[in-house]
Amino acid sequence: MSAPYDAVDVISIKRDGGVLGDAQIDWVVDAYTRGVVADEQMAALAMAIVLNGMVPAEVAHWTAAMIASGEQMSFAELSRPTADKHSTGGVGDKITLPLAPLVAACGVAVPQLSGRGLGHTGGTLDKLESIAGWRASLTNAELMAQLEDVGAVICAAGAGLAPADKKLYALRDVTGTVESIPLIASSIMSKKIAEGTRALVLDVKVGSGAFMKDVDSARELAETMVALGTDAGVHTVALLTDMSTPLGRTAGNALEVREAVEVLAGGGPADVVELTLALAREMLAGAGVHGVDPAERLADGSAMDVWRAMITAQGGDPDASLPIARETQSVVADSEGVLTRLDALSVGVAAWRLGAGRARQGDPVQAGAGVELHAKQGEAVRAGQPLLTMHTDEPERFDRALTALDGGWSVEPGGAVDQQSPVVIQRIT
Ligand code: URA
Repeated sequence: MSAPYDAVDVISIKRDGGVLGDAQIDWVVDAYTRGVVADEQMAALAMAIVLNGMVPAEVAHWTAAMIASGEQMSFAELSRPTADKHSTGGVGDKITLPLAPLVAACGVAVPQLSGRGLGHTGGTLDKLESIAGWRASLTNAELMAQLEDVGAVICAAGAGLAPADKKLYALRDVTGTVESIPLIASSIMSKKIAEGTRALVLDVKVGSGAFMKDVDSARELAETMVALGTDAGVHTVALLTDMSTPLGRTAGNALEVREAVEVLAGGGPADVVELTLALAREMLAGAGVHGVDPAERLADGSAMDVWRAMITAQGGDPDASLPIARETQSVVADSEGVLTRLDALSVGVAAWRLGAGRARQGDPVQAGAGVELHAKQGEAVRAGQPLLTMHTDEPERFDRALTALDGGWSVEPGGAVDQQSPVVIQRIT
């Protein structure tokens, strides 16, 4: 039987600014997943979508077609409600690590199917793999059992979940077609809807270290994703959060795990604690759990108990010392004043070049590499004070990391001390 559509016709419709019909979308997504539509054809279609966009009905159907390309999970059998969080990715964004056990300690199961880092934003699995013995891959049966017993799981998304997106995302990554609101929204939401969570909180980052550099485009992405989730019956809320400067005081795998454990122990940087609690409250509300204060579960150690159980259940040793990079080099302030700007993208690229991230899928990462910040944006600094320390196993990486940091921070003599800039910019429902 001949194919119902021709790939070139579908590409041409989008190239000329037209709207794809449901059947055309179903066909092209399915045919691409099966290898009938070639990579170069899908790359051309993705570029046409980047340039000409999609109407809401197309985004909704494209998302549905990607969900239909694989399995759909269900957590309906669990004894407690589920809630999940997705971040669009940022520098120093270790929030998933304290958040998942915290929300579980409040009575909501958290199935956090995560990815690895690519480019300057870190990946949750890379961070956790710096813990000795911890393993990212679980079978669906193991995932369910851990959710019931421990309440929180952070693991790799299985190959069966939205395989069309796996293939398409890898293609977009190498064809300059990531930056498109319809493609990003459908990519994220196809995985989250297929996963079967009851409630979803989206942390949509805004600023230099994020995909979305300005609030208007972040809001449009958030609104598109909230509409997709809501239409699919998932209670979905988005928070627009600041990513113009790194979150917390660390960017890099083991460095970030250390900071996450500090938060679970009741300490940690104020911005990380603030965002963790804001997202936890949204997840609990979305799952229908009221009257539990997540701040109390951080303070009384119950979130830490779940963290230890979660790491242990996946083969990790929560008491093992974390890897430390062999070499360090600090950058000092050359004058006294206020650190008025510390740019997220500069720090993210520096951490990446030090070995914390990968340039190509499958590359190894260094567990100990990254950047440790001694001053945060808005803090007063003295001349000669270390502003940050770079960590790596390979000292030849320092120069390129320093180049990334060049121009990424400013100390101003009369600058205003401002430690209170809010992390959460806007809530979208
Ligand atoms: N994360 C995803 O999963 N997909 C995108 O397209 C962008 C970020």
